[in-house]
Amino acid sequence: MRVVDLDRDMSDVIPTGTTRDSEYLFDRMTDLTLELTRPGPGKRILDVASGFGQDAIALCAQGASVVGAEPSARMTAWARLKSGEATGPLPHWVRGWSDALPFPDDFFDASFCKGALDHFDQPERAIAEMARVTAPGGRVVLAIANFDSLACRAARRADDLREGILSRPVRRGRRHYDVPADHFTRYEIELMREQMSRHVELEEVRGVSMLWGLPSWNRAVQRMPESAADAALRGLDRLADAVPSLADVVVLAGRPRPTLAAAA
Ligand SMILES: C[S@@+](CC[C@H](N)C(=O)[O-])C[C@H]1O[C@@H](n2cnc3c(N)ncnc32)[C@H](O)[C@@H]1O
Repeated sequence: MRVVDLDRDMSDVIPTGTTRDSEYLFDRMTDLTLELTRPGPGKRILDVASGFGQDAIALCAQGASVVGAEPSARMTAWARLKSGEATGPLPHWVRGWSDALPFPDDFFDASFCKGALDHFDQPERAIAEMARVTAPGGRVVLAIANFDSLACRAARRADDLREGILSRPVRRGRRHYDVPADHFTRYEIELMREQMSRHVELEEVRGVSMLWGLPSWNRAVQRMPESAADAALRGLDRLADAVPSLADVVVLAGRPRPTLAAAA
């Protein structure tokens, strides 16, 4: 039995734009993910779990021919509504599961999946499908939240200290390093590499943002003058890219491995 809520929206999970560090993280993750698909006029690109469709619409505006595949009826309806407001060429919206993509082999120049792999009940099957529908030499790109980031490690240590050594009561509610209820997998960089490498020859492993969501950092960055906040966020982002295992989000890109059938 599948346990995906086909009527869900994301108002509960995406705090985009609410704070400087959130805004920075979501913008940077989006820019890097789309850039790594190598978009351009005439490129055929697949957005897997396209959600509200904003990324597919942005790639269309760069001249690509884009398909957004998404199982949720509500998300697909939102995407159609949103694309009604856009001008110029629009994506094609297709209802579809990531583990059985309704496209022929080698159909796309690139496929990407942003912020959704950990929601899938069969994530590795989804990666295999993305590799199958992407042409040899094309690009498969995944952007995944890292639950072993520096921020998660620091928050866990602080709670261990509070609850273990200082004997304070366990805080109520979801903690920074707890995986949300609608995630199936707690990803850290080794698991990302392992699952992706079975289907994709990894070419880039990039880190995005550091310390996102840590309450003390969040408060500090809100209080800084805007230019200082920007410089700090950009500096941490560079550090995240140098040490992706500690980044808030990891973006992985590579070309599909030839399947046994294709190699024969
Ligand atoms: C957090 S949203 C991300 C949406 C979009 N990629 C973005 O960055 O805004 C996760 C999406 O995964 C979709 N989803 C969940 N399980 C799925 C599955 N097995 N196959 C394809 N999509 C799925 C949900 O419907 C939801 O739209």
